[in-house]
Parts: sequence; C-alpha cells; structure tokens
Amino acid sequence: MAALAPSVPLWTGSAPGKIILLGEHAVVYGRPAIAVPITRVRAVAHVVPLAAGKGTWIEARDLKRRYALREAPADDPLAHTVRTVWRALGVEQEPDAEIVVHSTIPMASGLGSGAAVATAIVRALAACFGRQLPPDEVSALVYETEKLLHGTPSGIDNTVVAHERPIWFRRGEPPQPFTPGGCFHFLIADTGVPSPTRATVTDVRAAWQADPARYEALFDRIAGLVEQARQALEHGDSHQVGALMDENQDVLRRLGVSSPEIERLVRAAKEAGALGAKLSGGGRGGNVIVLVEPDRHLVVRSALQTAGAVRCVETVLAPEEKP
Ligand code: PMV
Repeated sequence: MAALAPSVPLWTGSAPGKIILLGEHAVVYGRPAIAVPITRVRAVAHVVPLAAGKGTWIEARDLKRRYALREAPADDPLAHTVRTVWRALGVEQEPDAEIVVHSTIPMASGLGSGAAVATAIVRALAACFGRQLPPDEVSALVYETEKLLHGTPSGIDNTVVAHERPIWFRRGEPPQPFTPGGCFHFLIADTGVPSPTRATVTDVRAAWQADPARYEALFDRIAGLVEQARQALEHGDSHQVGALMDENQDVLRRLGVSSPEIERLVRAAKEAGALGAKLSGGGRGGNVIVLVEPDRHLVVRSALQTAGAVRCVETVLAPEEKP
C-alpha cells in the first residue's frame, strides 16, 4: 500500500546513544578518551506547525509533559536547547510549532540520553528552517545544553552523538573519527542505580585539588591506556582492548568512582569469560560495558543478569559502521 503523505508538514531529527569506551574523568583534565555511538537506542524529535499565535510548545513524551516554551524556566534542558537553536538560526519571533521528543535511551545511566535528545531537537529545528548543520555545529549547540546538565562537561558526549562515529576525543582539539579494524561485541549492563555524573565529576575535582600529583599520575595512566586502545581497536585486537578496559577499570576504582553494584557486574562478567569489563561514564552507578567474544555473549549476558543487571543492551562496533 502506498504511504500516505502527512496532512501537515513534519520535520524530524534523531541521534544515537553513546558509550565511553575508555578515558572518562581523565578527559575532563585534557587527556584523550574514546567514545562510540550506540545506534540501537535513539532519541527522535519531530516539529509540527501549530495554528498562528500559539507560539512554541514542547512535548516530552517519556516524561509525559507538555508545556509552552515561554513558560519554561531557564534551566529546563529541552527549552534551553530550543532557545539556543532559535538564537543560532537568527529566529527572532517564536515560531508557532510543537516539538515532540521521544527517546529509547535510558535516562541518567551514562548512555548520553541528554546529549542525544538535544541533538535530535537541534537537527529537527534546523530542518524546519531548511538548514542541514554539519556535525561540528550541531555539537557546539548541544554543548550549551550539556553545560546546563553537567556543569563542566568535557564535550565528549555531544561530539560522539553529533558525529555518530567512533571518535578519539581530546578537549580543545578537533575530534578524530576513526574506523575499527574488526568487529567488537559489547554488552551494556545497567546497574539500575542512577548515575550522578555531576556528583562524581565534582568529587573527583575535590580529590584532585587535595592531591594533584596523585590524580595527575592516575589521569596520565588512563591517557596511556587510551592511546594503546586506539591502536588495538584499529588493529581489530579484541583481547588487547579487553585487557586495556580492565586496566582502565582498575584506575577508575582508584579515582573513587566505582561502586559495589559496578564491581559485582564487572566480576560476574569476567568470571563468565568476558574479555574486559569496566564502568562507563560518570560511575557510582549507570552502566558497565563488557567486551565479549561473540560465542560467549549469551553466557556473559546471563551471568550479568544473575548478578543484578536490570537491563542488558548489545552493541557491535563494526568497521562498516558509518552515519
Ligand atoms: O556520565 P556520562 O556518560 O555523561 O559521561 C561523563 C564522562 C565524564 O568524563 C565523567 C565527564 C565528562 O564531561 O567527560
């Protein structure tokens, strides 16, 4: 059957989730990190016109909220994104439009849901004004919302989500998208504990201020692991990547951002034969990422579930994975 044309114009933008493979926290202090998109979970935004005089409305489907832009407080992340885009596009009068947002990315779990929702909104609004913004411009706009959400973000989330490619990222430098040299199978297991990125980033900063030499040395160790991991990813060497993830988890533990729930999942994965396992993102909760050989994936998944994982998402990083 032929598809029906929509009765009203509709502009759409979407964006994937993400995981940080290695380098979180140290990336805030100028060290490199590696992040990859997770295309199986996405945020989507639609823009539909409203009758004249209605102004701009936002419907956050997952939060079951609908509100007028002009009534939203300055710290509302969705409204902040919309206002940032209107400003960047030179829109002077609030358009009569409804922005509907929906996401399958679990919230507050280190999978970049905030950055993805903002990216989807930026893309949908740009499309509605006949503009297709390059990834760097999208990323810069989304960074404004990241600052609102996280305080002092490194910028890695908005960068990987806007580029939708595996990236090697160092603050203040152009991101370097790269292509893995083989397939890497990951399980992303949720501890079920919300991940307070702002809190862990604040705690690490306080600890760094109290003992800069110790923390700078830990950040340097992470930087070394990230450099090696990039080469191992490009060579398709999953055993080496797994070993480097384990070492990264060891340093994250010393930074004080692991937790009993994370440790339980990491241990269960390793005992079931995973190649590597570590927390991803802010820590103290959120998700654990586990690198597995494809034939071990069911065994490891079941071990993670037994150890308390509330959700397990699979993702494959493959050479051909392109936007
Ligand atoms: O919790 P997430 O996935 O948003 O990641 C935070 C990563 C940190 O390095 C801890 C902070 C940052 O801004 O890079």
